[in-house]
Amino acid sequence: MTKEEIVLASQEYLFPAVFHYYREPLVIARAKNQFVYDADDRPYLDFFGGILTISVGHCNDQVNSRIHRQVDTLQHVSTVFVTEPQAALAQKIASLTPGRRLTKSFFTNSGTEANETAILAARCYTGSTEIIALRHSYHGRSAMAMALTGQAIWRVGGAVQPGIVHAHNAYCYRCPFGLTYPSCDVRCARDLEELIRTATSGRVAGFIAEPIQGVGGFITPPPEYFAIVAEIVRKAGGIFISDEVQTAWGRTGGKWFGIEHYGVTPDVITSAKGLGNGFPIGVTVATPEVAAGVKGLTISTFGGNPVTTTAAKAVLDFIEEENLLANADETGAYLRGRLEELREKHAIIGDVRGMGLMQALELVEDRQTKAPAVHAAAELMEAARRNGLLVGKGGTYGNCIRISPPMNITRSDVDEFARILDRSLEECANGTGSRL
Ligand SMILES: Cc1ncc(COP(=O)(O)O)c(C=O)c1O
Repeated sequence: MTKEEIVLASQEYLFPAVFHYYREPLVIARAKNQFVYDADDRPYLDFFGGILTISVGHCNDQVNSRIHRQVDTLQHVSTVFVTEPQAALAQKIASLTPGRRLTKSFFTNSGTEANETAILAARCYTGSTEIIALRHSYHGRSAMAMALTGQAIWRVGGAVQPGIVHAHNAYCYRCPFGLTYPSCDVRCARDLEELIRTATSGRVAGFIAEPIQGVGGFITPPPEYFAIVAEIVRKAGGIFISDEVQTAWGRTGGKWFGIEHYGVTPDVITSAKGLGNGFPIGVTVATPEVAAGVKGLTISTFGGNPVTTTAAKAVLDFIEEENLLANADETGAYLRGRLEELREKHAIIGDVRGMGLMQALELVEDRQTKAPAVHAAAELMEAARRNGLLVGKGGTYGNCIRISPPMNITRSDVDEFARILDRSLEECANGTGSRL
């Protein structure tokens, strides 16, 4: 098919709700390491990685050679049979969880399903059905995951589910209470007590939150936030579910899981995306007690698939062998420094936030009013694309630029990224972009 035929067929035969970045959709034909190539074989430096999914570089040789072997050995059995790839991956994940306390995995195909499983476990374990989620969160696209989600745009069709309430999040740049950290005394965390007292029966099944709100624009709570909320939730009988679909596997630098930066051990962690480096896999890993609470039977046709679990194990081995937790920390700090420099230069950048190799820019029309620069964010995406760079867009107001390169990039990749982003910001500022 030609590029034009691909776009036309996509428009004609996919749900109209399948949206694409850019005024003219970008047709990607192939990818290698930190680069993707369009249908005309033009390279782009990929600092979004699908959506935080390419953790160890596109078509990673070491990972893919193991996948190729597995495809020719055993492709499918489903969770009703036992296989080595699934067992080996579960064992590996158990060894990586905080304090090795979460040792029981259930594999599925996506982050959405991982969260469904976590909520099921919380409800079975506690006997309560009530769940607390956060405003500005994103937890997936099933009926329940949309109801957990705290952004209108991702709650398609109404997303009605009883028993889910949304707490204020720790959005320091736009504090929901109009306060300033640290003199706020983390009011957003303490407000959970009032929420439980007034919007639930007083006993809850659990609290689900992303350590850094991904789709929400990499909103990063202050260090004491999760310890406070976890204590409040546990006092009300609930468990703490850390949705690490974006933040796991070293992405935040120095730690396997984002929540580890907060010194709290959750009862359940969910993940997907970077675990498979592009292969569809979701995991719900829980403490033995919580996992045992799911009494009765459950299956997943594709969950624990030998090929995807082989891919995930190969990804984790690669992250370990290449010491990518340290690289995400060090190169992430370097990236953060380059972004802070850009903030000094470009008034449109209101906030820089994130951890490790998960960093975002929040664009504003005015640093005083903080009016979201929605149009400029879209224009910056276009300019970056023209200049050969892919980044992501997000945020509840559509004004955040999300940056999440593969975790095996180098400083020179970051320098190239910063050069292109700087140029793209300049083009947007002086309006030359559309002529280039
Ligand atoms: C934090 C978080 N949870 C859950 C999901 C849903 O994952 P999936 O799209 O694999 O169903 C996403 C997807 O972006 C996510 O960012």
